[in-house]
This record gives sequence, C-alpha cells and structure tokens, in this order.
Amino acid sequence: AAPELRSATGRPVRAAATTRAQQGAFLTTATGTRLRDTDHSLKAGRRGPVLLQDHHLREKITHFDHERIPERVVHARGVGAHGVFVSNGAAAKLSRAAFLQADVETPVFVRFSTVLGSRGSADTPRDTRGFAVKFYTSEGVFDLVGNNIPVFFIQDAIKFPDIIHAGKPEPDREIPQAASAHDTFWDFVSLHTEAQHHTIWNMSDRALPASLRTMEGFGVHTFHLVDEAGDTVLVKFHWKPAAGVHSQLWEEAQLTAGGDPDFQRRDLYDAIQNGALPSWTFGVQVFPDTEDETFEGIDLLDPTKIVPEELAPVQPIGTLTLTANPTNYFAETEQVAFHPGHLVPGIDVTNDPLLQGRLFSYLDTQLTRLGGPNFDQIPINRPHADVSDMLRDGFHQHAVHTGVAPYKPNSLDGGCPFHAGVADGAFLEVPSPVEGEKVREHPASFDDHFSQPRMFFRSLSPIEQEHVIAAYTFELSKVTWPQVRERQLAHLALIDERLCAEVAAGLGLPAPTPDPDVEVQDLAPSPALAQIVPGAT
Ligand code: HEM
Repeated sequence: AAPELRSATGRPVRAAATTRAQQGAFLTTATGTRLRDTDHSLKAGRRGPVLLQDHHLREKITHFDHERIPERVVHARGVGAHGVFVSNGAAAKLSRAAFLQADVETPVFVRFSTVLGSRGSADTPRDTRGFAVKFYTSEGVFDLVGNNIPVFFIQDAIKFPDIIHAGKPEPDREIPQAASAHDTFWDFVSLHTEAQHHTIWNMSDRALPASLRTMEGFGVHTFHLVDEAGDTVLVKFHWKPAAGVHSQLWEEAQLTAGGDPDFQRRDLYDAIQNGALPSWTFGVQVFPDTEDETFEGIDLLDPTKIVPEELAPVQPIGTLTLTANPTNYFAETEQVAFHPGHLVPGIDVTNDPLLQGRLFSYLDTQLTRLGGPNFDQIPINRPHADVSDMLRDGFHQHAVHTGVAPYKPNSLDGGCPFHAGVADGAFLEVPSPVEGEKVREHPASFDDHFSQPRMFFRSLSPIEQEHVIAAYTFELSKVTWPQVRERQLAHLALIDERLCAEVAAGLGLPAPTPDPDVEVQDLAPSPALAQIVPGAT
C-alpha cells in the first residue's frame, strides 16, 4: 500500500490512499509485464518499417493520445487545495447538518478559478473568480459552488449560455474579449440591465484579487437551513479571508499576466507548501423564512441583489484552513466535480431561478467532461460516507457490486431499513407550498436593476471609485459599435451621474441624462462593500 501522505501540518492528504507512486525498479505495460526497452519501436530490420505487433508502442501512444479530457465549459482555469473546515457550532441551532455542530472537523477540497479563460489562460484577467468548496461530511458531500462576487449577471439560468457566449472569445477570430474588442459582452450587459450590478463589481478592484488568499467568497443564492424540528431560516453564505481583502491595480494585473501568467496558482501553492496556511471565516446572513421570501424589501430569490451587512450581519459559523496541495493536478483539481445539488440533511435550495437551472447544468456537463455516469467514484469525488446508491454499470464502473437485488427496498439481500417515509438521517426537502400558472415571467420584485449598483458605487472609497471609472472607460473604449457604448452610458447615468460624466468624458462622448422613466432608489451606502475604508492608512 502507498504510504499515507501528510501535509506540512501533519494532516493526512485524502488522495494518498489511491496514489500510484510508479517508482518500481522496472517499467511495465499497463497490465504489469516488465519491459526491456521503451525507446525503440519494434521494426522489421534496423532500417525497416515499424511492426503493428508492437503492443508497447501502441499502448504507450494510444494512452498518450487520450490524455486530455474536455476542459470545463466555464471556469476552465483553476487551482485546488485540500483543507479542513472546523465548525464553531453557532449554526447548530439553525441546521441539523452534522458538519455544522460544534467543533466538528470536516475535510474539504477547494477549487478557485477564473470564469472565461481557457485552461491555459493567465491567472489575473479582470474576471469573476470561482470559489468552490467540497465538504466531505459524515452525511455525504455538501458542495458550496460560489464566486468571489456576491451577485450574478442574470436572474434566470436560461440566459446562462447567452452571457457566456457573449463573454467568451469571438467566434470568428477566437480572440479572447479581454485583449481585443468587447462588443458582445457590452452588447449583452447593456441589453440585459439585470447584469449591471455584477458588471460594476467586475469594473471594481474585486475583479482583480491580489491573491486567491485575499478574496471573499459568496454562495450568491439564498439557501434554506433546516433544524432538528424541521424549522427553517433563509441564509446567504459568506467566506471572509483571514488575510483581508486585497486587490491588484489594473496595470499590475496586466504586467503579472505577461510576466508570470501562473502567479496566483504559484502564490497559493507556495503559501501552503511553506506553512502560511490560507484561512477563511465561514459565515451566514440569516433571514426569517417568510412567505414572500424578502428581507427589508429585498427579494431573496433574486441573485442580482445583496443584503447589505449593515442590515443583516454575517455571523461566523466556522473556519476553513487550506492545509495541503494536491498530489496530482489532473487527478484532483481537473477531475473534481462540484454540483450545487450536492446537499446534506439540514441544508436545502430555494426557488431562485438561477439556482434551479444550475441544479440541472453541472451533472449534465460532467457526464461529458468526465466520460460517463460514474465520476463520483473518482477518488477526489468520493464521499466520506457510506454509499448505497443502487446505481449500476456504465462506463468506467470501478465498483464490483455484490448482491442479487440492485434496487431498494428489496427482500432478497438481507435487512432493508429503507422506507418510503422518514429514514433516520435522511435528507428531507423543505416542504414549501407551490402553486401558480405556468408562465415565462419573473416577479416585479426582480425589476429594479439600478439601485444596488448605485449603492455599490457610492459605498466605495474615492480611490476605488476612480478605479471603477477608469475600468469602464478603458473597457468601453474597446467597444467598436457606437450604439452599444451609448446604451451602456445611458445605464451609467442611472447608476451615478458623476460616474457617467467621467466615463463619457474619457470616451470623448456627451454624457446622457438619466432616463426619467426609470425609478432608482438612493439606498444607504454600505461601508462593508468598501475594501479601502476612507481615511484608513
Ligand atoms: C462551473 C459558480 C451560475 C454552469 C462553475 C464553477 C463555479 C461556478 C465556482 C467552477 C467549479 C469548479 O471549480 O469545478 C457559479 C456561480 C453561479 C453560476 C456562483 C451563479 C450564482 C451558473 C449557471 C450555470 C452554470 C446559471 C448554467 C445554467 C456551470 C457549468 C460549469 C460551472 C456547466 C462547469 C462545471 C464542470 O465542468 O464541472 N460555476 N456558477 N453556472 N458552472 Fe457555474
């Protein structure tokens, strides 16, 4: 058996049990036959043609030919780390989840990513960052598949292919948007005004994290927590970095991308390797689970809205520490499969229409990306809980299932404690009442697209506002279609007139007046949104 690997802090590295050291004295075929020569093909004569019968040649080249799997359709560029989550027990009164009870230690695997770049792209573009955490709890896997920006571009998953097509490289030239024209991205976000909030975060320093260790993370959607009695609250999940929130300057990010495109994955690897273990506080904003699912007038099902921390403070419920680098990038970071539907008893989804679409998309894409239906058996995806799923066969089946009755309940394979009713420790959906007509519409409470972007801009410190103005000016200067630039400037006028005027001046265009038909609220600024507190040194 392979020796158990341990991290710098002595914590076992999960994948070790299945590592293949391949350090034997001999080279062998995949089926274990020792080989004498791996440098010369078998030929008919020294100067003759290569023989088809050379199994070693064919096996070696065939396997190499199939080394690549499709990269993720989004979030292709990523870096992962093992770690541990320790609950402080503060959520135990809200959720029956075993891993949230006091002092429970849960192994985790975390993958950080950019969204739009391909697997070989640079680490520091202006982009949202993925912040995906797999908790291997005693009750099954819980995945929190979040981002470093607390809102999303769209309110309905049906638009996800559209926003991603608009942001990915142009189809004719395959030139990434960030380096050339920005027409399709700005066309999309100016036509779909719900995208204005995420976009202004992308124009801020938040889209240029100094290090993956200095990013906040957000679950974005609202989730249910369910206690022992079945009582529920609504929550939003937050990760707060112990090292504080820090960003690069735009010029710095550009230079980094040129000089060291692997800067952030190197920084994360080195920090863990040297024992400077990155850490985050896990927290929740808690809201009563009311019938209208709103809090202080904010629709909690709308993923383009935040709830300011001044209205609902983030309550710490535990600490995440990254303790070990992966042993093998492909086996772990590339093959890990996150899914917002990986839930455990005590946590459930809500009807946020973006989240509902995600519940379909991840499994669907992983069926292709990871080659069939058995990727849950890949070591990095295996739960640390017993599995009795009655799923059988299929490509890459590694289990040798025993028994004669691959269904439950059955009366043939011994005792079967499964009932249609409540089994001990079972996941139960929150029994929310549902009724309504079938419609392709969203509620009116999803309609305000400008008040929170205004609140965000006005919450920033002056230097952060300057960065936002410079980012809009630079990005919109790359747009070649006048109608797209003008439409976006009209939206900036609704967000903040000074923002609009300065960007328009930078573009050499007249600043439009705000559309009087669009009502925008002057919400109180949220100091928690500023990275640099005005006046602080
Ligand atoms: C991948 C976050 C919305 C489809 C990811 C990843 C993250 C993420 C962090 C990378 C996971 C990893 O490291 O492997 C989010 C957040 C969203 C969002 C926070 C909104 C709040 C959506 C929507 C869809 C979607 C609406 C589709 C309807 C995908 C797909 C992948 C992905 C297909 C690739 C998964 C894979 O290949 O394993 N997302 N996403 N996402 N996301 Fe999302």
